[in-house]
Amino acid sequence: MQSFLARLTAGSLLFGLVLITGCSDGSDATNSSLVDAARLAALDVGVAFDDGASAPRRTLAAAEFTSITAENSMKWARLTSGPDDYDFEAADTLVEFAEANGQRVRGHTLFWHRLNGLPDWLLEELGAASDPATRLRGLMINHVSTVVGRYAGRLAQWDVVNEPLAIVGGEFDPENIFFAVLGEAYIDLALLEAHTADPSAELFINETFTEFQPDKFDALIALARRLLDRGVPLHGLGLQGHFFLQAPDQEVLRDQLARIAALGLKAEITELDIPLSLFSGAVDPLAAQAQAYAAVFNACLSVTLCSGITVWGLDDANTWLDSFALSAPNAPNRPLLFDAELQAKPAYDSIVQALVGSPR
Ligand code: XIL
Repeated sequence: MQSFLARLTAGSLLFGLVLITGCSDGSDATNSSLVDAARLAALDVGVAFDDGASAPRRTLAAAEFTSITAENSMKWARLTSGPDDYDFEAADTLVEFAEANGQRVRGHTLFWHRLNGLPDWLLEELGAASDPATRLRGLMINHVSTVVGRYAGRLAQWDVVNEPLAIVGGEFDPENIFFAVLGEAYIDLALLEAHTADPSAELFINETFTEFQPDKFDALIALARRLLDRGVPLHGLGLQGHFFLQAPDQEVLRDQLARIAALGLKAEITELDIPLSLFSGAVDPLAAQAQAYAAVFNACLSVTLCSGITVWGLDDANTWLDSFALSAPNAPNRPLLFDAELQAKPAYDSIVQALVGSPR
C-alpha cells in the first residue's frame, strides 16, 4: 500500500511537471517526460530507427525512448549479399548507439518472407538445390548462429519469426517460402537455434493485422500453444499494431494481450503507427489520434506481461506508410508521435498521461 502511495505521489508530481513544462520537443536530451513516465510504469517505450538519420533525429531517438528496434538494418536481405557474405556495419552502429544511450534493443527480424525481409540469393540457392529442405535448414542454422551469436547477451529480444500467417485469415501464408519448404517445423528450428545462440534473449513471434481479425489472432494463439506444448523456447508474441485500416479498440486489444499473457508469454506492441487520416472526420483530428494512442497504451498497461510498445518510426516525415502500397494513397499519413519538424504532437502528451496514470 505504501509503495502504491509513493508511486501515486511520484506519478502526480511527474504529471504536474508535464503540465507545467508542456511536451518535450526533443531539444533537451536530458529531460524527457516520456522516458521518465515509461520508467515509472515499468514499460519499455521504443522506436524503430536506423543508422544514417540526421543529427537532430538521432538526438531525439536517444532522448525520448527506452528501447530501439532496427527498422531495416538487421533484416536478412540487408545483412547479406550471399549465404556467407555478411555486412554488419549498419546493425553494429545501431546497437552501439542504443547501448551508449542505455537503451534496450529488440532484434528485428530473422525470418520474414515479405518486402525487404528475404534475400534474392536465398531463392536462387533453393532453386538450385537438389534437396531444398536440407539446404534451407542449413542456411537458417547458419544465419541464426551468425547473427544471434554476434549480439549474444546484448539484445533483449528477437523477433525470430515475422508474419508467418497469411495477411488475411488464420492459415499459414502459402507464399511463405520457409513454410512452403519446411512446414511449421521452420518455426521450431528457428526458435531452438536462436535459444542456443543466445540463451538470454527473449524470443518472439511477431504478427501483423491480428488486432482486428479475431480468426487470425486465434490462429496465432493456437500456434504459440502448439510450440509451447512441444517444449520449444518461445517467450513472447508481438502484435505489430499498424492501425492504418482501422483505429485501435482498447477492449479488444486488452483482451488479446491478456490472452497472450495467459499462456505465460510476454506481449509487446512492436510496430505501432496510427495515421491521422483515420480521423479526418473528427473535429480535432490530432486529439482523436492522441486518444487512439492512449487507448493502445492503456490496453497494454492493464496487462502485467505487456512489457513494451514500440512506435514504427520517429517522425511523420519518415514513415513507411507513405510508401507502402496499401497506405501510400493516404500520404501524408502522419502516424507518429513527432511531426515532420520533430515537434511532439498531442499523441505524445496523451501517452505520457497514460503512463503516469498507469495502474502498475
Ligand atoms: C518496413 C520498413 O519500415 C520499411 O522502411 C521497409 O521498406 C519495409 O519494411 N512489418 C514489419 C517491418 O515487420 O519490418 C516493416 O518495416 C513494416 C511491416
